[in-house]
Amino acid sequence: MTDTRIYLSPPDVSDVERKLLLEAFDSNWVAPVGPDLDAFEAQVADLVGVRHAVALSSGTAALHLALMAAGVRRGDTVLVPSFTFAASANAVTYLGARPVFLDSTAASWNVDPGLVADELRSRAAHGRLPRAVITVDMYGQCADYDPLLAACDRYGVALVEDAAEALGASYRGRPAGSFGLAGVLSFNGNKIVTTGGGGMLVTDDARVAAQARHLATQAREPVAHYEHRTVGYNYRLSNLLAAVGRGQVQRLDGLIAARRETARYYRAELGDLSGLTFMPIADYGRPNWWLTCLLVDAERFGAGRDRILEHLGQQNIEARPAWKPMHLQPAFQDCVMRGGAVSADLFRRGLCLPSGSALTGHDRERVVTAVRTVAAEQKR
Ligand SMILES: Cc1ncc(COP(=O)(O)O)c(C=O)c1O
Repeated sequence: MTDTRIYLSPPDVSDVERKLLLEAFDSNWVAPVGPDLDAFEAQVADLVGVRHAVALSSGTAALHLALMAAGVRRGDTVLVPSFTFAASANAVTYLGARPVFLDSTAASWNVDPGLVADELRSRAAHGRLPRAVITVDMYGQCADYDPLLAACDRYGVALVEDAAEALGASYRGRPAGSFGLAGVLSFNGNKIVTTGGGGMLVTDDARVAAQARHLATQAREPVAHYEHRTVGYNYRLSNLLAAVGRGQVQRLDGLIAARRETARYYRAELGDLSGLTFMPIADYGRPNWWLTCLLVDAERFGAGRDRILEHLGQQNIEARPAWKPMHLQPAFQDCVMRGGAVSADLFRRGLCLPSGSALTGHDRERVVTAVRTVAAEQKR
């Protein structure tokens, strides 16, 4: 195998980030406090269109703190889309609460707003409202917030937006991360903007931001002698990593454009093959094109999703199945699930293609050739 490996969504860092990182290093703000952290928070708050941003060590930490801000406690329930990465559900269990999983709509692969409304209505009727609803902006496309917010508002239930995959996307002109009580961003190495690991809680609510900042710094009171009235966490991002994030966010428009071009190319070059259907793009918003994903109809394509994955692997190309839904995970087998056919089908047939912003034209061609080779071998 001579061709270099093509990864699913590797980091794309440049001299811009390198320079900012070295400047931060030389400034000796080598700590979870410093001017780059402040600047990074201000930059992201501005981008998301919210008043406050708290930089954290991961998106998972941001979810944990956002759920705490929503008042989630032991014994509570929280509605969570089943079709997501485990972090969305894990954070619920950190607080001793239980996720109730909901299916997605095939129209966007995001949580079905009708199911959310039904579940809230029936739980309200039995006096068992959840403490919060988590929405996820899947693969960089926003959930359908008008009906979701209307349902949450009707019953006074807090919405937490898991926009870990969606920085730079928007819904009816409003940026991802800005919906509900608080939004969650991830700067994990595979995300559109990375700090090599990190996250952020974004919110318009000064109280939520102050509480998150406090809990993220071991809940240390502002006195000299290390006073703690409550139990906190060590969740702050390093100033060095914030410097990397500043550079990444400066380049965000270009990073989105590169992923959009990859999505366009795959659609143009593979769209004629029968049995392949790309993730639908809802007309209510603009995705950030984080990952290009599609469904494989084995009968019409002539081979199943796993045969394509296998061949891509043989060509030194990393691709992945779509998320395995939470209601099918052993870790969550005791949790309630509403619906499930859509997310199970997305998992069975869904394929995520290499989508990194540094993909070259040659890389994209290799991916397309590999997929077309599988289609051709079935015809022979
Ligand atoms: C939907 C979703 N939520 C949460 C996370 C967690 O973010 P992190 O890895 O920064 O903890 C991720 C990605 O990693 C994600 O894709």
